[in-house]
Amino acid sequence: MSIKDLYIDYFKSKGHKQIPSAPVVPENDPSVLFNTAGMQPLIPYLIGQDHPYGKRLCDYQKCIRTNDLDEVGDKTHHTFFEMLGNWSLGDYFKEESINYSFEFLTKVLNIPVEKLAVTVFAGDNDIPRDEVSAGVWKSLGISEKRLAYLEKEDNFWIAGEVGPCGPDTEIFYFRSNDSIPEVFDPNDDRWVEIWNNVFMEFYKDESGKYSELPKKNVDTGMGFERITAVIEGVDDNYKSSIWKDVINEIESISGLKYEGNEVSMRIIADHIRTAVFISADNSMIKPSNTDQGYILRRLIRRAIRHARRLNIDINSNWEERLALIIINKYSSYYSELDANKDVVLEVLRLEKNKFNRTLEKGLKEFEKVTKNNRAIDGLTAFHLYDTYGFPIELTCELADELNLDVDVDGFKEKFKAHQELSRAGSSQKFKGGLASTGDMEVKYHTATHLLNAALKIVVSKDVHQKGSNITSERMRFDFSCDHKLTDEEKIKTEELVNSWINDGLNVTVKEMSKEDAVSSGAECMFIEKYPDIVTVYSIGDVSHELCGGPHVKNTSELGYFKIIKEEASSAGVRRIKAVLE
Ligand code: ALA
Repeated sequence: MSIKDLYIDYFKSKGHKQIPSAPVVPENDPSVLFNTAGMQPLIPYLIGQDHPYGKRLCDYQKCIRTNDLDEVGDKTHHTFFEMLGNWSLGDYFKEESINYSFEFLTKVLNIPVEKLAVTVFAGDNDIPRDEVSAGVWKSLGISEKRLAYLEKEDNFWIAGEVGPCGPDTEIFYFRSNDSIPEVFDPNDDRWVEIWNNVFMEFYKDESGKYSELPKKNVDTGMGFERITAVIEGVDDNYKSSIWKDVINEIESISGLKYEGNEVSMRIIADHIRTAVFISADNSMIKPSNTDQGYILRRLIRRAIRHARRLNIDINSNWEERLALIIINKYSSYYSELDANKDVVLEVLRLEKNKFNRTLEKGLKEFEKVTKNNRAIDGLTAFHLYDTYGFPIELTCELADELNLDVDVDGFKEKFKAHQELSRAGSSQKFKGGLASTGDMEVKYHTATHLLNAALKIVVSKDVHQKGSNITSERMRFDFSCDHKLTDEEKIKTEELVNSWINDGLNVTVKEMSKEDAVSSGAECMFIEKYPDIVTVYSIGDVSHELCGGPHVKNTSELGYFKIIKEEASSAGVRRIKAVLE
């Protein structure tokens, strides 16, 4: 039986009700991206509200902590973990809580008392030393030498800056075959913390003031991956039964052994597992460049980078094989994994394909710029991000492996400038993409619509405009497309645009409601940015677009259309520069 089940059974036998794990994305708390502790979904009840399940609760809660995402790769860090927790909401307090923890560890998990040590709060000007907890521990057979009194920074717990909080007592386990030192030293890393019992009596407000909570609560948390590794006697969490089949599968996919490839295998295992749980969450997060979506993107892209390092064929279904093992393993505990299985697999596959298109080139670019051991300046880091889809953290990781610095502040400046530009750009685009409207600009504007229509026919109906920029000298047109255009595609596109120019098509404009425009199939970039009544420009019957104009009256005015350049603009977006001669 898994420790998770033993834990729930034990606390149920002590009158606790099991509550279901809350989603990884908090439902009513926009202050955090993910649930980081078992208590997070319980905050309303810890500060006074009655819980429908009563005063004694227990659960296993899905948690995601990303503050040390970059540490993943060592023996102990995970971005996703399960926290076993039990709570008293104004019911029992220190004595029973410590007794339960002690009994579970020594009687259910059979840990010898000699292997345990504890810390308790030493006290300060605000809150006195926790003599009660110390007394309970001693009565249970923990000697004074195995008990350390620590300050607020170690033995006082709060999630973030504000909220319910209180002194805690932490339980440590001696994880080593060395003989156990008589005196417990909390700084000796052979002692690992396994359980935290927080006695939540206070509320800390924005001004830093503590007030007493209406009820005295207990909030405990025990990391499932750590306690499992401890009980199974492995000093590397990834060698425990939780990870065994995932690591085995990575070995079989890569044809390599875990030994010697630990870092990449741990990163792949951890990141794919977390990506599975994020994308299976009912909040339906998708990879993006903000908030939870950005974390999801970083996790998948970093996993891909490490898979490549193990010479895994990225185009194979490696990520699906791993995801399926994880889904099967956890679906009896978390039903959303099975229910959203197809979504999860699709998120992983699409993000993989997207990154894959630019990864090789990005890595080549990276090699080129670092050839002379040059530090990476902000502009280069931004280029890697914008054109090749390299999250800045990935660039930093690559640079770190070569002992090179990255100007992250410089990157942030470029990033900000770019955001401001594209904001300004989209209001320009809304006006029709024209800064000033001389005759030439008007011609280029009409040519943009023809080019958009031609690309849909020649390249793919999924081509959509992503941006445009027009001067009196040339036009630039960005569009969604997953590949570099072939010469043939470029020639055909040019020919088609020129044939429409030669056909002398009339350009007409109609006003209509936004809904009618959309249902008539008119092309538009950001539908939500348009007013309720829109103008739709049609060119013969080859093009219909929502647009503010102005345009030429007839395509015969345009002259000869010529593509002068086709290049990558950003991940999944190509750019064409063209002129009218
Ligand atoms: N909330 C406490 C923790 O996360 C139990 O350690």
